[in-house]
Amino acid sequence: MKHLSIIFCLLLAFGCQNKEEKAAAVAKSENEILIGAVFAMTGPIASYGQESVNGIKMALDEVNKTPINGKTIKLLVEDNKGEPVESANAVRKLIDINKVDLVLGSVASSNTLASSPIAQAAKVPLLTPASTNEKVTMTGDYIFRTCFTDNFQGVVMAKFAFNTLNKRKAAIIVDNSSDYSKGLQKVFKEEFGTLGGAVIQDNFTYTQKDTDFRSLLTKVKRANPDVIFLPGYYSEVGLILKQARQMGMDMPILGGDGWDSPKLQELAGPQGIKGNYISSHFSPDDADPKVQKFVKDYMERFNEKPGAMAALGFDAMLVVADAIKRAGSNNAADIQKALATTVAFEGVTGSITIDANRNAQKSAVVLETTATGNVFNQKVSP
Ligand code: PHE
Repeated sequence: MKHLSIIFCLLLAFGCQNKEEKAAAVAKSENEILIGAVFAMTGPIASYGQESVNGIKMALDEVNKTPINGKTIKLLVEDNKGEPVESANAVRKLIDINKVDLVLGSVASSNTLASSPIAQAAKVPLLTPASTNEKVTMTGDYIFRTCFTDNFQGVVMAKFAFNTLNKRKAAIIVDNSSDYSKGLQKVFKEEFGTLGGAVIQDNFTYTQKDTDFRSLLTKVKRANPDVIFLPGYYSEVGLILKQARQMGMDMPILGGDGWDSPKLQELAGPQGIKGNYISSHFSPDDADPKVQKFVKDYMERFNEKPGAMAALGFDAMLVVADAIKRAGSNNAADIQKALATTVAFEGVTGSITIDANRNAQKSAVVLETTATGNVFNQKVSP
């Protein structure tokens, strides 16, 4: 009996100690503001997450040089593996267990759409640097983005196809597993049609993680478009570009920001990448001194040119820090109000004003993809 009670006491003590340790690991200290970041650090869109976090960390180092009301910002990164369910779980964990003051993320619209209702219900502000699908910020008043939306981006590319490239017959290849891709398809189709172009009505679709696109491309080739719109993510897009060129399809292929990854060139190969165009958020060739300083600092730190995601992550972190400073506290409702009243914040991806729907009205750039990197073609204002 005596032994049993000793064991019982030990168990109790051990249990308590364990509990304390866990709590200690997650509790934020008095002089910290805790920000959760939910990004794909592994999986088929890992390049987005890695670049975003690089940009966020660069901004954070700058921000933490001058503490906000005596507090520094601490970042807690969760890997969503590029999956909606993982994204929702990560946001829930960050809010319920870590008690974060705000969530940054995700990149892919489907992931943000799956996780934002949790932040909204808990009334914890969530800001996505990069999710462009229209529906993302409709989740509620705690959900923000610092990028433009697909209603704008899709129109930019339809006009580019029709007016700049003089194309009249488009095929659209859609990633059926992505809200982003399906949304852009709709916008491009409407605008290209309004301009007087024809869109081939066929189901040219694939799913994320597919690798052989030859039968799909055979159908597309047979329909004989003079331009292809391919709103997808770099892993599949890279292979589609490569296989299309191998099959003798040499019309320009257009995409959106989802192509903007240093990995794309590698996957598409020199033949696949050239002669195509995308819309994006940022060009490292921009002569703006602010942009050039960012490009230089980024290259020194990470040994590669920053893409759109790095720039978007950088700006998002700065906008959040600015809002927390103006809020004067890390009370969620105060941060929400301050974010909603962000006006003309000058970032490396342009001037950021949060509108009544918590979106940012910003310019897009059209870039030509080449074997040596993306080349600036034009800037389009909303
Ligand atoms: N806009 C894409 C989406 O909503 C994500 C993305 C942004 C990817 C920028 C690459 C670069 O799904």
